[in-house]
Amino acid sequence: MPTRDRALFEVFGRLPLPMVRLGELPTPVQPLGPVQQALGSRSEAWVKRDDLSSDVYGGNKIRTLEVLFAEALAQGATHVYATGAFGSNHAVATLLHAPRVGLRPGALLFPQPPSLTALENLRVLASADADRLRLLHWSQLPFAVPYLRASRRLRGARPFVMVPGGATPRGALGYVSAALELAKQVAAGELPPPRAIVVGVGSTCTSAGLLVGLQIAARLGIGFAAPPRLVAVRVTPWPITSATLIVRLATRASALLESLTGDPRCRVSRAVLRANLEVDGTQLGRGYGRPTAAGREAIALFARVRNPRPLALDTTYSGKAAAALVARLRANAPGPWLFWSTKSTAPLPAHGASPSDPVLRGWMARAAGDGGPPTTVGR
Ligand SMILES: Cc1ncc(COP(=O)(O)O)c(C=O)c1O
Repeated sequence: MPTRDRALFEVFGRLPLPMVRLGELPTPVQPLGPVQQALGSRSEAWVKRDDLSSDVYGGNKIRTLEVLFAEALAQGATHVYATGAFGSNHAVATLLHAPRVGLRPGALLFPQPPSLTALENLRVLASADADRLRLLHWSQLPFAVPYLRASRRLRGARPFVMVPGGATPRGALGYVSAALELAKQVAAGELPPPRAIVVGVGSTCTSAGLLVGLQIAARLGIGFAAPPRLVAVRVTPWPITSATLIVRLATRASALLESLTGDPRCRVSRAVLRANLEVDGTQLGRGYGRPTAAGREAIALFARVRNPRPLALDTTYSGKAAAALVARLRANAPGPWLFWSTKSTAPLPAHGASPSDPVLRGWMARAAGDGGPPTTVGR
């Protein structure tokens, strides 16, 4: 099921870029009134509901997978593998969506700090009929990826292995399209032009794509006179996530888009991209996957947004990003602000029996004892 029905194609016409349809796009935008009121903030705030991008499994990774699955199919792949931590949303999205386009899913997984948020995902990943390779540590990846490719080829499969988060220039084009989609919603009067956009950043794919797309929209005169500033909230320590890495991927995505469109306005310089990016490292806490008090507070606040589905955030990514926005709203920092909601709010499928792998079982037992308040609320 290839699709041309995406903002990128509406703006640039036919492009030599295959995409498959996984998401129900455009995702809605809505005011964050209940959050603003609870905080008594004078700053206006909105939300882009990418959590609603699919009823199968939503969130930000759907847009990246629309491009990467198409790339896998074009290369004749039979299997597509996600690479990520035990609680990876990218891996869950791959597992649930790949069969819809005729690909067999798999995952290369490595441990992360135990949490209830991650446990919800691992329960699905561990019980589903996917080809899993479980590592003891992420540092094994450089050896594990070639091993996975070679061993699966020997079994007659044609594997396509994605890098963590799908963070390639091609994968980022899904989020260039998302920025154009937002610009079209602004142009249609669905929301005011945001002054700044707040989003969680891990692999950098989402932020890099948005950074490029916002510039292009402004250059083409769609929605914004000036591009909104992007506030990327780090959930992994430097240098795993850094402004340099975001800008590097954005520059490569921009060059790729210029080559696909032949339009020089798609080429955005490193300096221009950097000037529009703010990396906020204040919400990381004790590290990746470790819940913070500010994140939990933001989760409770955002659960006040209830339609069309409760805005349930997670402690690893979106709760920390929301906490960065809460701090700005408390300070009445001038808006309008836009929160990019990246964690799926679609109900997860029921999971089957526990895995036999003792490492996974031990990790799951520790995660179940996380002890904090629920990490996703309002389901
Ligand atoms: C819910 C959620 N939000 C934000 C991100 C960050 O996106 P990226 O990895 O593209 O930087 C991720 C990454 O997996 C995610 O799962």
